[in-house]
Amino acid sequence: MAKHAQKRLIRKLDLERFLSTVQVNPEPKINLEQYTISENIAASMLYIAAYTNNDIVGKCILDLGCGTGRLGLGAAFLGAKTVLGVDIDKAALKVAVVNSQNADLTVNADWVNGDISIINGCFDTVLQNPPFGVQTRTADRAFLIKALVSGKMVYSLHNHPDVDKRLISMLKSSGTGLFAVQPSAFLKRFIERHGGVVKEVYAMLMTIPKMFDFHTKVSHDFVIDLYIIESNLIK
Ligand SMILES: C[S@@+](CC[C@H](N)C(=O)[O-])C[C@H]1O[C@@H](n2cnc3c(N)ncnc32)[C@H](O)[C@@H]1O
Repeated sequence: MAKHAQKRLIRKLDLERFLSTVQVNPEPKINLEQYTISENIAASMLYIAAYTNNDIVGKCILDLGCGTGRLGLGAAFLGAKTVLGVDIDKAALKVAVVNSQNADLTVNADWVNGDISIINGCFDTVLQNPPFGVQTRTADRAFLIKALVSGKMVYSLHNHPDVDKRLISMLKSSGTGLFAVQPSAFLKRFIERHGGVVKEVYAMLMTIPKMFDFHTKVSHDFVIDLYIIESNLIK
């Protein structure tokens, strides 16, 4: 339980404030696509999971590819029962541990260094912002397969299938910052083949600052899709 057990509804602004205190990866690695999720995307994802679908408060959460722990710690802040974060990168995980200590939450949070394949067990909810497969094609697929055997509900971020300038400008001017969209035909089929059902997909605008030398602009806007998936493999 969190020090202040979060039975009451937390304001989204307070969640974003908390998430902004979670330090990002100081030395992101290109091959692992280590960009940290922005506060507003993380807050929207966690808010839908917690307050629209009741998949966070009092639940056991797995944060796959946790990086510096933003999603898992956000879940802990909202009142998750337990949080387990796993990441292959030692340096990112070290930051997650420090972030976890600084967050001053008494939720049972554990941080494991290793490949996602080392995780065994059943969780209520999996949160993941996997590598999109830009550097290593299909990197997100292994995450989806692992998530579906590990958790009843999966909240997974994926690159929107095409660059849709109209959608970007609609998202910029919308109050909520998200729109319900159709799943990509490929991902829907892939998820179904691996025991999941796509419940909803929300497009959201993600802005990342210039992080790597090959980035040509100071910041980059792109659309990211949040897939909400139910696993049929977990009863
Ligand atoms: C896009 S980053 C997201 C980090 C964090 N979850 C966030 O949203 O801020 C993807 C993370 O997955 C980790 N990762 C990549 N491949 C992995 C693997 N096979 N096993 C475990 N972690 C992996 C990377 O080190 C990186 O921290």
